[in-house]
Amino acid sequence: MIDELAYAGPEHLDPAFVAGYDRKQGYPDPTQDLAVLGEHGVDESAVVVDLAAGTGQFTLAAARRFRRVVAVDVSSAMQDVLRGRAADAGFSNVEFVKAGFLTYEHPGPPVDAVYTRNALHQLPDFFKTIALSRISGLLRPGGVLRLHDLIYDFQPAEAEEVLDRWFAGAATDPAEGYTAQDYAEHVRTEFSTFRWLLEPMIEAAGLQIVESVFHGSLFGTYTCVKP
Ligand SMILES: C[S@@+](CC[C@H](N)C(=O)[O-])C[C@H]1O[C@@H](n2cnc3c(N)ncnc32)[C@H](O)[C@@H]1O
Repeated sequence: MIDELAYAGPEHLDPAFVAGYDRKQGYPDPTQDLAVLGEHGVDESAVVVDLAAGTGQFTLAAARRFRRVVAVDVSSAMQDVLRGRAADAGFSNVEFVKAGFLTYEHPGPPVDAVYTRNALHQLPDFFKTIALSRISGLLRPGGVLRLHDLIYDFQPAEAEEVLDRWFAGAATDPAEGYTAQDYAEHVRTEFSTFRWLLEPMIEAAGLQIVESVFHGSLFGTYTCVKP
């Protein structure tokens, strides 16, 4: 077993980075995620697990909608921020668990949905597939995985062209966004997978892909259902 903390990205463990995390990464609108979960029968009575929840942008939106949300992350710094925000907002239906994709053990019956955004790429492919299989094991039949990540939707021969285009559109101020240096580090040290490899991995984990949407050949969103 790998040490997930060693693969978590050192910046995610650093309270100073975490304090500026939202400003750097932006404020994704959870409306579409919540709508898609609803379309697949995940209603107000649901239990939802946010895996690698970070500062909890989705967790907090989900806590307004669903009965119970479990926010799982390996980073104490991320969990501290999220715990503070949930307390400020007065939520009593959010649980915090310091654990990872490979170690989280869910007590109780299988859950209605798992959400994970921009984190599965922290794991090398072997462990990513084990993580997907563990996610499948968390879900009830008919349960939904909503997955967002940096996923390479191109062929190897296109890599230079696509990555150059990505780097060219990067932020220049590291406080305001991800820079070309950040992106290059992602390519060198993290484990984004080619789309045409990831999809069989998802299916081998026992999940059915019902929708996939890609932006810029780099960012993918999947809705998957456990049969
Ligand atoms: C880029 S942040 C994304 C956070 C959040 N999901 C979001 O969309 O803002 C990546 C998160 O994954 C967490 N992480 C990294 N490796 C992990 C693992 N193996 N298991 C669980 N969380 C992990 C980090 O601590 C960090 O909070």
